[in-house]
Amino acid sequence: MPTPVEFAGTHRKRFESELTDLLRIPSISTLPDHRDDIRRAAHWVAEYLRSMDLPVELIETVGYPLVYAEWLGAPGAPTLLGYGHYDVQPVDPVNLWTSPPFQPAVRGSRLFARGAADDKGQFMTLIAAMRAYLQTAGRLPVNVKLLIEGEEESGGAEIAAFVRSHADRLRADACLVLDAGMFAPGIPAITLGLRGIVTAELEVTGAARDLHSGTYGGVAPNPFQALAEIITGLKDKDGRILIPGFYDRVVAPPAEESEGWKRLPFDEAAFLRDEVGSTALTGEPGHTPLERMWARPTLEVHGMPGGFTGAGSKTVIPSRAGAKLSMRLVANQRPDEIMEAFASRVRAITPRGVRVEIKRRVGLGAPPVVISPRSPVITAAQRALGEAFGREAVFVRAGGSVPIVSDFAERVRAPVIVTGWSLPDAQLHSPDENLDLEHFHKGIGAVMRLFEHLAATKT
Ligand code: BES
Ligand code: MN
Ligand code: MN
Repeated sequence: MPTPVEFAGTHRKRFESELTDLLRIPSISTLPDHRDDIRRAAHWVAEYLRSMDLPVELIETVGYPLVYAEWLGAPGAPTLLGYGHYDVQPVDPVNLWTSPPFQPAVRGSRLFARGAADDKGQFMTLIAAMRAYLQTAGRLPVNVKLLIEGEEESGGAEIAAFVRSHADRLRADACLVLDAGMFAPGIPAITLGLRGIVTAELEVTGAARDLHSGTYGGVAPNPFQALAEIITGLKDKDGRILIPGFYDRVVAPPAEESEGWKRLPFDEAAFLRDEVGSTALTGEPGHTPLERMWARPTLEVHGMPGGFTGAGSKTVIPSRAGAKLSMRLVANQRPDEIMEAFASRVRAITPRGVRVEIKRRVGLGAPPVVISPRSPVITAAQRALGEAFGREAVFVRAGGSVPIVSDFAERVRAPVIVTGWSLPDAQLHSPDENLDLEHFHKGIGAVMRLFEHLAATKT
């Protein structure tokens, strides 16, 4: 009988091709047209787990189903609650993809597809690690509960409601959230902080109807001009948010943590050139780029629908214009307070002649999260990642948000290991999203080692 590690080694191609099957399903949770695809992805994951002889439940919600499975055959051993999401982001602009987003393609060591890194190719490493044990040893070193959701990318509240009402059932000694990434190729990372998020849409209405811009230009209010004024009244050129009270609760990271960031091999010039690809980085002076991404809040505009955007010109003063935006929050900002302060600020700076409607996206929000590095669980994760990648795992934070993590921390009351195998250039949410397959396999190895180290941990 091979060992689990040997099994994973000889089944590399199999794990890759199974992941590829899942990646072919366009499970975009933010687009209503993909309802059936989402359900297909949920069923695919459920079937895959059933093929491992696990009891699986497809938990229906008013949104998309949760997939829940468990293996509890190690009484007395710690229990790990694993999380992932089978939904993905939209693919547009689709013409910028080198190969079609739902026809997974390997180039070099990279597998390209929407969802390869976020998050199918990450949570599948946990499932693959489980299979490697179950098909060899017939058992796992720890108990595992798995909760895979289908609306992370649309900020769905369904999983949060489930976690709150089933805290007992989800009881665990550690949580594993495979939805973050590596610091750099070959350098594994444990994410000790995630930013929170609130999102809103502004809809500005000026004149009762679109107007000829020659006839009425100079007297009729222009909602785009108004929106531009509102936006620049929310954040200044130095990246400082101009909302009264916005920074009141912000706490800086512990010195030990930010000192650690200064030792990370971060090359600002390469970051600017290769990852951002602009001519300069923006943001608050006095904070390093890593601090600005990980430990400072921000406000970003995502799009401004409205007006005339067709070919050629149309001389019109549009009646309406919109802006979709979000704010990323850091400890200890509170989403509801920030939303209130934002709305008051918008009302206070809305120029005369226009009306603004502030649509808050309830549900689509998350509080910031910070995780203590001082727990036996994090130490076990550090060792597992270090051994699997042959290089010490570093402590980082992430600028992105994974809404369920705060609920895990509060309700499951177990330390959360937030990590993953995707690289900084994995192009999450962008064209040519990809996963490095070497890192994928090392990720499977890291999860197997985590099982062992957790089993040996007093939690
Ligand atoms: N996996 C990402 C978040 C992430 C990105 C964590 C990079 C660590 C490193 C997650 O799928 C995501 O995109 N979350 C959304 C949440 C939002 C839609 C509520 C985000 O951050 O925009
Ligand atoms: Mn994700
Ligand atoms: Mn995402």
